[in-house]
Amino acid sequence: MPISRNVTEALDRSSWIRRMFEEGARLRQEHGDDAVFDFSLGNPILPPPEALLARMEELVRSEGAHRYMPNAGWPEVRAKVAAHLERRTGIPYTAANVVMTVGAGGGLNVLFRAILNPGDEVIVLSPYFVEYGFYVQNAGGVLVEVQTTSNFGPPPAEALLERVTRRTKAVVINFPNNPTGRVYSSAELQSFCDALRAASERIGTPILLITDEPYRKILYPGVECPEVPPAYDDTVLITSHSKDLGLAGDRIGTLAISPRIGDADELFAACTFCNRTLGFVSAPSLFQLAVADFQDASVDTTLYRENRRILVEHLRGLGFQFEEPGGAFYLFPKSPGENEIDFVNELLAERILVVPGRGFGSPGHFRISYAVPTETVVNSLPGWTRVAARHPSLSPCSEECCE
Ligand SMILES: Cc1ncc(COP(=O)(O)O)c(C=O)c1O
Repeated sequence: MPISRNVTEALDRSSWIRRMFEEGARLRQEHGDDAVFDFSLGNPILPPPEALLARMEELVRSEGAHRYMPNAGWPEVRAKVAAHLERRTGIPYTAANVVMTVGAGGGLNVLFRAILNPGDEVIVLSPYFVEYGFYVQNAGGVLVEVQTTSNFGPPPAEALLERVTRRTKAVVINFPNNPTGRVYSSAELQSFCDALRAASERIGTPILLITDEPYRKILYPGVECPEVPPAYDDTVLITSHSKDLGLAGDRIGTLAISPRIGDADELFAACTFCNRTLGFVSAPSLFQLAVADFQDASVDTTLYRENRRILVEHLRGLGFQFEEPGGAFYLFPKSPGENEIDFVNELLAERILVVPGRGFGSPGHFRISYAVPTETVVNSLPGWTRVAARHPSLSPCSEECCE
């Protein structure tokens, strides 16, 4: 069967993650599970909180829990999500601002479908979650990349304004970030929103700010994650419980339209319609009902904290350069040498799997996902040391500098 040109090209562009996946499977078969250190997938391994599991058990047999409901989701669930957002942001969200979605991925597809005409542009800040490109393309849009600063902060106003055109419909931000773990400070967010207001003024129509926040509750000590909706009126917040409640396979998320958006009702109707007509129909009923009372809850992130500590200490000691992640479970170091693919292949020879930065629009880096058992991190350390020893450009810091 001839495959569409779009999909053929897309398969080619996303081949890195697929290749790592296939390599991982091959290495496991050859050497056994314990001898492969797979940091390639962002698959959250922490179990859902006990109380949430108990709630799911209770719901399985409850009357009506498996039926169709309004396409936006159960009204009482949406009201609870809205109340949670109002508490967090001070903005009066109601159930009429919230659509329950099939994860954040489903929410992004619904939103792009609702707002994009063919050829409309969506700006993403590089490095970025690679699926954005495919989601925008699904809706006939065009992805436009703007580079973040050298420490992965939001780009300065000039860089944003340079890429804004009359076709710019939206900008996507994501923090804690995949693949860098970066969290924007309140001041960084404010000045980025000022730049976006200036850009909107220039093209004479408000540019939508889409804040993709599935890692918001995975934050490291001392890091604060500013709220986006109070900083910019035309904001749609998208999130999911894949990471914060450990429900990645259960596909449950939310899309929240700020009531400060001029035509919020129209956008709600459009998103509800797209949730239906993209074939989702609605988010999974049981999981909507299950998460309603767990909006403030989170998995216990001790494991991510420990993995981060071990990796940061070891890789820094070996001379790797990276920003210490403020949240999520990723590290995005610079690769020694120009071509990160060569370096990723060297790591592969040590049975360490990571993803090349070009998979995220940022060559010269590689992504480590440390959502893995701590044992995997610890057992991989000798391999990191051996590979680093072959790279004189890495300059291990002296003991004093790490103290
Ligand atoms: C930045 C970002 N956005 C969205 C998603 C999609 O998550 P889900 O559809 O599981 O909610 C992911 C998943 O890894 C992600 O990293």
